[in-house]
Amino acid sequence: MRPLQLLLQSAALAAALFATASAATAPQEAESPVAPRPRLVCRCQPDQPCWPLPDTWSSFNQTVGGRLIATTPVSRECHQPFYDEAKCAEIKKGYKHDRWRQLQPGAVQQTNWETIKGVGCLLNQTTCEQGAVPLYTVNASSIADIQATVRFAAQHNVRLSVKNTGHDYLGRSTAASSVNLWTYFMKKLNVEPKFIPEGAPKDVQGADAVVVGPGVLWEEVNRVLDAHKRIVVGGAEATVGAVGGYCLGGGHSPLSPRHGLCVDNVLQYTVVTADGQVRVANDYQNRDLFWALRGGGPGFGVIAEAVYRTHPALQNINYATNFVYSENTTTINSIVREFYANYGRWAKEGWSGYTYTTTKFTLMMFYLPDADLDTAKASVKPYLDYARSFPDAQVSNDTITHHATYYDLFKTLIASPETENAGHNYHLASRLIPASMFQSKDGVDRLASTMAQIQDGLAQIMPDGGYLTHLVAGGQVSRGNSRDTSVLPAWRRALSHIVITGGWLDTTPYEGQVYVQDTLTRLVDRLRAITPGMGAYQNEADPNEPQFQQNFFGSNYRRLKQLKKKYDRHSLFVCRRCVGSEDWDSDEVCPRRA
Ligand SMILES: Cc1cc2nc3c(=O)[nH]c(=O)nc-3n(C[C@H](O)[C@H](O)[C@H](O)COP(=O)(O)OP(=O)(O)OC[C@H]3O[C@@H](n4cnc5c(N)ncnc54)[C@H](O)[C@@H]3O)c2cc1C
Ligand SMILES: *[C@@H]1O[C@H](CO)[C@@H](O)[C@H](O)[C@H]1NC(C)=O
Ligand SMILES: *[C@@H]1O[C@H](CO)[C@@H](O)[C@H](O)[C@H]1NC(C)=O
Ligand SMILES: *[C@@H]1O[C@H](CO)[C@@H](O)[C@H](O)[C@H]1NC(C)=O
Ligand SMILES: *[C@@H]1O[C@H](CO)[C@@H](O)[C@H](O)[C@H]1NC(C)=O
Ligand SMILES: *[C@@H]1O[C@H](CO)[C@@H](O)[C@H](O)[C@H]1NC(C)=O
Repeated sequence: MRPLQLLLQSAALAAALFATASAATAPQEAESPVAPRPRLVCRCQPDQPCWPLPDTWSSFNQTVGGRLIATTPVSRECHQPFYDEAKCAEIKKGYKHDRWRQLQPGAVQQTNWETIKGVGCLLNQTTCEQGAVPLYTVNASSIADIQATVRFAAQHNVRLSVKNTGHDYLGRSTAASSVNLWTYFMKKLNVEPKFIPEGAPKDVQGADAVVVGPGVLWEEVNRVLDAHKRIVVGGAEATVGAVGGYCLGGGHSPLSPRHGLCVDNVLQYTVVTADGQVRVANDYQNRDLFWALRGGGPGFGVIAEAVYRTHPALQNINYATNFVYSENTTTINSIVREFYANYGRWAKEGWSGYTYTTTKFTLMMFYLPDADLDTAKASVKPYLDYARSFPDAQVSNDTITHHATYYDLFKTLIASPETENAGHNYHLASRLIPASMFQSKDGVDRLASTMAQIQDGLAQIMPDGGYLTHLVAGGQVSRGNSRDTSVLPAWRRALSHIVITGGWLDTTPYEGQVYVQDTLTRLVDRLRAITPGMGAYQNEADPNEPQFQQNFFGSNYRRLKQLKKKYDRHSLFVCRRCVGSEDWDSDEVCPRRA
């Protein structure tokens, strides 16, 4: 879910407040008993003799059908000496829009990932440097393009990054001095009523499925499936990629309490591994790789095609958006406590959805399928009555809409083209909250008071800052068998994921940016303290998450690390807080010295 519309521009920042980054020390992983650790070497840099010569790039360009792009930062033409009035006007128009950004080889969605230590070429920066923008992009159109790019990067020891939409909150879809494999235009999308995985025994029944190329967006999948009266577990946001980071890291959805996480619904992956081979992974072949790709995050290969299980279309879906406002923070905190007191009941009744909370308001955006409008209204009423009992709270009247199908609702939530929903500098920090927390008065009290403290800390750096509470687990997410996938096992005990957000301006000095980032990490320590053994959803997480191995992967980490060594011995797919990244320095350029 996207909190950006809600995170107001007034990211008033404590630029003057300085703090030093607390270097998170990664625990050393024991040597794998299966294979000796390969010697890792620094990635080749453009100023070094190992860097490919122009002729080499040129012949690579021919191999990929002339689809190699020399990549520059997106707002370069708004800066001297590259200034171009017409182009700059176009850049300013598109800059804060996801749909423009995802068409630009030089852009990602959160602009801070286009910079290194604050240095880059953002629109309002006074200088223009390449920053973390890749030097080359391959605008891939086929599996052969993917294979050629993987082989080229491996052969020349050039850093490889992989991007579809660039939504990644940890900056994992771009890298300095890299060649970027861009999958956005690979738009294969087929509905298969009787899909049989490759290599399956003869008696296996075909499954209802959708076959998706690595450039397809969730809105495209939902639209096509609606016409076939089917649904799929996918993101709530129209422009998130259907193949790539979302499902590799877990993938939650308003449909998850009914049908599990995205990883619980993968039937098959076709993947190009670091050796350039195409492998088909499913329940019958390459099973270990299939396991790693369902929760282990990016870093095991490039997905060329995914096959997801589909489910019968939903009918009668209600969408409740209740808004409670008060200038009095004590009142808001009491109302939020009451909200959490209802949370477990709502989950049991089949609700899912999102809540955005600041010191002044709390906004509920909840889905209830297979129920009539009166049932939905009655379910929310006790909470709204409680809120109305405060004279200094303003409570919206019933704003529940009723929709015939999931897509009918999904469509209405697609951001209008005018919405400025990207192009900000932005960090998250987060924690999965166990279902047990909502089952006792004590648990609800502890969570509500912890969130009140966190909100207070957040308001000190960003007066309008807030946090999201995602009701996307429980139900089928809890029933999913965590041994079948490599997703963080804590998901199976969770009911909610809480995500706090922080941002800064292009002009905020680097020390101020680090201060905001460190504050987020520090504030979530309070949640870490009351949720021992849980963790965080890696796709909506703190890019500086401490002990990420435990917090993103839990008990699956050891096996994931072994599989990383098996399928990517030389760490071609190295990325921030990805499996094996503790063997690299903080920029993932050189191996960490022992
Ligand atoms: C506005 C917004 C809304 C969101 N809503 C949800 C939500 O409802 N539920 C949820 O679970 N998450 C949500 N997320 C988080 C989302 O899952 C992650 O941002 C995810 O990484 C996006 O994947 P992408 O492929 O679209 O983005 P990208 O940034 O292009 O890629 C993300 C990662 O996947 C890798 N990757 C991309 N394509 C491939 C490929 N073909 N093969 C291998 N690796 C690949 C990249 O290298 C990178 O590491 C949301 C994020 C945003 C910004
Ligand atoms: C790759 O080739 C195409 C077609 O010849 C050309 O337009 C493009 O500029 C080349 N890319 C690079 C980086 O030279
Ligand atoms: C750049 O600065 C102008 C003027 O302060 C502001 O209106 C605009 O929103 C800023 N743009 C970005 C991308 O931060
Ligand atoms: C990438 O390729 C697609 C066709 O596959 C084309 O439509 C698009 O314009 C290309 N983008 C860039 C930036 O070259
Ligand atoms: C804020 O609300 C609380 C009850 O929620 C009340 O006790 C307190 O007096 C209020 N404060 C102000 C300044 O109105
Ligand atoms: C709710 O409805 C009442 C009566 O119809 C109206 O007076 C009030 O302004 C409404 N409240 C809001 C927040 O819209």
